[in-house]
Amino acid sequence: MNRIEAEELLKSYIKNEKMLYHCYSSEAVLRALAKRLGRDEEKWALAGLLHDIDSEITNGDSKRHALEAVDILRKQGIDEEIIDAVKMHNEHATGLERSTEFQFALAAGETITGLIYATALVYPDRKIKDVQTKSVTKRMNQAAFAASVNRTTIMECEKIGIPLNEFAEISLNAMKEVAEKIGL
Ligand SMILES: [Fe+2]
Repeated sequence: MNRIEAEELLKSYIKNEKMLYHCYSSEAVLRALAKRLGRDEEKWALAGLLHDIDSEITNGDSKRHALEAVDILRKQGIDEEIIDAVKMHNEHATGLERSTEFQFALAAGETITGLIYATALVYPDRKIKDVQTKSVTKRMNQAAFAASVNRTTIMECEKIGIPLNEFAEISLNAMKEVAEKIGL
C-alpha cells in the first residue's frame, strides 16, 4: 500500500481533524526515528500514520483499541511487521509487553506527539515553530501538564537507544517539518 492509499484508508475511518493531526504527527516522527536508526522509513511512517485507525470505531474502549486495527489492516494486506507494532502500541488490549525496537519506537513516538502538541499550544501564537526541545523535556516532569500523556511510554525511547533529549529533538523537528499538515 502506498502513502496515498494509506491516507485514503485512514480518512475512511477517521473523521476528527485533531485525530488526523495526531496520525500525521506520528507518521512524521516514526519516519524520522527510522532514519535515525537506519530502519525502513516507509514502513515505520506507515505504522505511525495508521496506528490509531480504529480509534473512532472503538470509541475509547481500551480493551478493543488496536485489536480492531489489526483486523482492518490485515484485510488490506498490510505488512505483518507493521500490524504487530500497531497491535502492541496498546498493551491494555493485548496483555503483552512490548519487546521489539519497532514496537518501542511506535509507542514512544506516537506518545510524545501529544506532549509536543500540548507544549506548542501554550505558546502565544499556538504554533510549533518556536518550540524548543528543552520546553518539551521540561514538561516531562510536570505530571499535571497534558496529564493523559503517558511519560513512561515516552521513556521507552531509551529501549531503542535514543536518550530523551535527542528523542524529543528528533520528534519536535519532524513535527515542525509538517507543521501545516498538523494544524500547528
Ligand atoms: Fe496514537
